[in-house]
Amino acid sequence: MNNNINGKIAIITGASRGLGAAITKRLGNDGVKVVVNYHSDHQSANKVVKAIESANGQAIACKADVTSPSQVKEMVQYVQDTLGSVDIVVNNATGPQPTISVECQTWDDHLNPLHFFVKAPLLMLQAVLPQMRERASGVILNIGSEVVELGVPKFGHYVAAKAAMLGLTRSWANELGPMGIRVNLIAPGFIPVERHETVGKAEKADYAKSVPLRRQGTPDELANAVAFLVSDEARFIHGQKFAVNGGMTLL
Ligand SMILES: NC(=O)c1ccc[n+]([C@@H]2O[C@H](COP(=O)([O-])OP(=O)(O)OC[C@H]3O[C@@H](n4cnc5c(N)ncnc54)[C@H](OP(=O)(O)O)[C@@H]3O)[C@@H](O)[C@H]2O)c1
Repeated sequence: MNNNINGKIAIITGASRGLGAAITKRLGNDGVKVVVNYHSDHQSANKVVKAIESANGQAIACKADVTSPSQVKEMVQYVQDTLGSVDIVVNNATGPQPTISVECQTWDDHLNPLHFFVKAPLLMLQAVLPQMRERASGVILNIGSEVVELGVPKFGHYVAAKAAMLGLTRSWANELGPMGIRVNLIAPGFIPVERHETVGKAEKADYAKSVPLRRQGTPDELANAVAFLVSDEARFIHGQKFAVNGGMTLL
C-alpha cells in the first residue's frame, strides 16, 4: 500500500500482458483501483484482475480498442459509472512492431504505430479531460521508447510514432499543466516480455552488452518507475521524459 496513491482510479491501456500487466499489478498492490484495458485476450486480462484481487487489491477488466473513438468513450463512461472519476491514465497499448526496411515501408506501416502512440492517447485524454478539469487534478503517463534516441534502423515507422508521442507529452504539459493535470513520458529500454520469447538469446545478450548496467531490465523495474511518477510524491514532475534502460541512452 502506498499512501501517495492509495484509492486513486487508473486506466492502464494494453494491460493484459507485458509491461502493461506489470504496471497494473504494481499499481493494484499500491492500493490503486485499476482498470485492465485489453483488446482481445480476455483470459489474460482476467488473470491480471485475479492476481490483483488475490493480493487484496481492486481491479476490473475492460475490453476496448483504444484506437476507436466510440470504444474509448464507452470504456471511460463505464469506469466512471463503476469506480468513479479517473485520476490516472497510462497510455501503454501497442500493436505489432515489425521491422521493415525503409524501401519497403508503406504509409500504412507508418499509420499503424501512429494509431497507438498518437491517436489512442489523444482519444484517452479527450475522454477523461472533462473529469480531470472539473477536479483540477489528473495524471497522464505515456509509455514511449528509447528508440527515439537510438534511431533504430528498419524501424522508422515505430521510431517516428514514439517521437510524436514525446512531442504530444511536451505540448500537453504546457496546455494541461495550468489545469492541474500532470503529463510525463517513460521511455523503457528493451525489456523482454511474453512477445519476446522468440527473440534469440544471442540478440538479447548483444543488447545487454551495450547497456552500461550490462543487463536488460524487468517489467517490475519499469513498473516501479511508473508507480513513482503517477503518485503524489512526483507532484512537481511535469512534461518530462524518463529513460528506464540501465543507462542505454544518456540524454
Ligand atoms: N517491452 C519492451 O521492450 C518495450 C520497450 C520500449 C517501449 N515499449 C512500449 O511499452 C508498451 C508495452 O509494450 P509491451 O512490450 O508490453 O507490449 P505487448 O506485450 O505486445 O502488449 C501489448 C498490449 O496492448 C494490447 N492491445 C493491442 N491492441 C490493442 C488495442 N487496439 N486496444 C487496446 N489494447 C490493445 C494487448 O492486448 P490484447 O492481448 O488483448 O491484444 C496487450 O495487452 C508499448 O507502448 C511499447 O511500445 C516496450
